[in-house]
Amino acid sequence: MSKPIRKAVMPVAGLGTRVLPGAKTVAKELLNVVDRPIIAYAVAEARAAGIEHIVMVTGRGKQALEDYFDHHIELEAQLAAKGKTELLAEILADLPKAGEMSFVRQMRPLGLGHAVWCARDLIGDEPFAVILPDMLMAAERPALAQAVDAYDKVGGNIIVVEPVAEEDTHRYGVVALEGGRENYAGRGAPTRMQAMVEKPAQGTAPSNLIVSGRYILQPEIFDLLSAQEAGAGGEVQLTDSMVKLMATQDFHALEYDGVTYDCGDKIGLLRANVAFALMRPDLGAEARSAVEALLRA
Ligand code: UTP
Repeated sequence: MSKPIRKAVMPVAGLGTRVLPGAKTVAKELLNVVDRPIIAYAVAEARAAGIEHIVMVTGRGKQALEDYFDHHIELEAQLAAKGKTELLAEILADLPKAGEMSFVRQMRPLGLGHAVWCARDLIGDEPFAVILPDMLMAAERPALAQAVDAYDKVGGNIIVVEPVAEEDTHRYGVVALEGGRENYAGRGAPTRMQAMVEKPAQGTAPSNLIVSGRYILQPEIFDLLSAQEAGAGGEVQLTDSMVKLMATQDFHALEYDGVTYDCGDKIGLLRANVAFALMRPDLGAEARSAVEALLRA
């Protein structure tokens, strides 16, 4: 039996250069999708997967992120006094229970691998999940829960992936499957991996399955990250240490059933706002009329 996945790391210390200048003062993870910050969706997803403790890796200027997960006494009192009980309940539902969430600082944004490494003492010697909150995933069964289902079947390390058009693979981390593309087991079925390539040159990608922002990793990754030198873009890359770990441990790729919105990108954030508004029972019809009117104009 594999050890259960109890903890999740959420790296939120990136500079968010693709959504500047706004990200200069408002962490991109606090940008709203409809009416709640991106990070709140990630926390809900982690909870739905049975995660008991979340470690946020934050950075300078991201204090508001911690405040979102704390009581706002004055606001709560005002809402209660005005009888806005539904809204109050919604706000309180996003709060963690005491001790369920930890925050650690990545003092310099040295890369995703370095951010995950900053959580090492809080994770300890057990397998854990990583959620990149800006990759917002809409799925009937939440994406991380699908990854945990796969982990319960095959153990080891799981990389959530999704297919993209062949000509777009050069922009992402791409997985190579054991035995090549013809061994691909299909969506929902974990397929053994052989390697991962960061941004392969056009026409050289080993598959069209890209790494999409949810991982289940074994704690041995931390030793490799400790020694990991800067790679692509001068940053400590999580991918480089995962590739090393593949020499001694099993990795499976899992294509999840859902849709990803890259909220770290202007158009991705726009798409997420439109799609999530359209999906909302209380807003969907109005959102549709608004979008249709804009397109007609
Ligand atoms: P991104 O690749 O989106 O980088 O990081 P970024 O800096 O946030 O944004 P851009 O590309 O400049 O616009 C992927 C995830 O890793 C975190 C980010 O916060 C994001 O959740 N990250 C990245 C860190 O926590 N620390 C880092 O040093 C780099």
